[in-house]
Amino acid sequence: MSQNISLTRYLVEQQRVDGLIPSQLRLLIEVVARACKSISHAVNKGALGGVLGAAESENVQGEIQKKLDIIANEVLIEANEWGGHLAAMASEEMEDIYAVPNRYPQGEYLLLFDPLDGSSNIDVNVSIGTIFSVLKKPDGDAAVGEKDFLQAGHNQVAAGYCVYGPQTTLVLTVGDGVAMFTLDREQGSFVLTQENVQIPPDTKEFAINMSNMRHWDTPVKRYVEDCLQGSEGPRGKDFNMRWIASMVADVHRILTRGGVFLYPWDKREPNKPGKLRLMYEANPMGWLIEQAGGAASTGTQRILDIVPEKLHERISVVLGSKNEVAHINSYFSKL
Ligand code: AHG
Ligand code: MN
Ligand code: MN
Repeated sequence: MSQNISLTRYLVEQQRVDGLIPSQLRLLIEVVARACKSISHAVNKGALGGVLGAAESENVQGEIQKKLDIIANEVLIEANEWGGHLAAMASEEMEDIYAVPNRYPQGEYLLLFDPLDGSSNIDVNVSIGTIFSVLKKPDGDAAVGEKDFLQAGHNQVAAGYCVYGPQTTLVLTVGDGVAMFTLDREQGSFVLTQENVQIPPDTKEFAINMSNMRHWDTPVKRYVEDCLQGSEGPRGKDFNMRWIASMVADVHRILTRGGVFLYPWDKREPNKPGKLRLMYEANPMGWLIEQAGGAASTGTQRILDIVPEKLHERISVVLGSKNEVAHINSYFSKL
């Protein structure tokens, strides 16, 4: 199928034929894709490019930054600040929003990203990725501020990720289903390799970090215990488990063959609603999953309906095959 459709052509057709995306949004997605290509090259060089290991800094989340976290953040900012399509950016690696400098034209979009997801996997040569989410700046002439970003995920106008694995694959939605593009290194462009991605509604595969079991809340414990009993237990089937520790890689597997991914609230840090970040991890992944026929919830609420109170807000995440997510939600409602 579609071997010769580049990302550029796909986006032009979405704009021209279907009127789905304005030209500024098309430009934005192309620029993000170009930045991902650059990050992919840096990731591929690994030790040869001197990009492995930790930097000597912490991010706003109190996590030690890796060199590639910082490199990827800079690549995304430098690629996006001058094109005139953005008002501001926000990133896991920056405490405050980054408003487009006055010397450049201002656009109407807001770009959020996790520049490098799965940082603990960089040095061990396991799949990592970049996650992005695009919102529109609310109308008004006021200077852009953090409050403009605090919109529910159902307001996203584009979302996606790029996974740097055995292949580099860009996965995108603009609200018209999910499409996947594989980087052709000889041509230097992303080529459409799958359209209308659909997640099977049922699954026998779950992804959760089992080492946190003793800290989980009762509904999560009960769900996983039932899965582990396999065909002899209440689920009546044997389950398989995967945990890559890169959300991009786990979500990519789920978009490809189904499954569920859980990073629930737990008792290690009871005052935080979860580990993952709502605006640049859970929202873009949640929308992609929904666009592919799956579901994304906190266990009790649809993720995309949550109105954030702050930029780096955290959230409990359950996403993937629709019927399995509904089943997990039922453990929460039994409480
Ligand atoms: P990041 O590298 O951007 O901080 O995100 C890592 C996230 C996510 O990708 C992954 O699913 C999860 O953290 C892994 O967490 P554990 O190490 O606690 O399993
Ligand atoms: Mn991440
Ligand atoms: Mn990250």
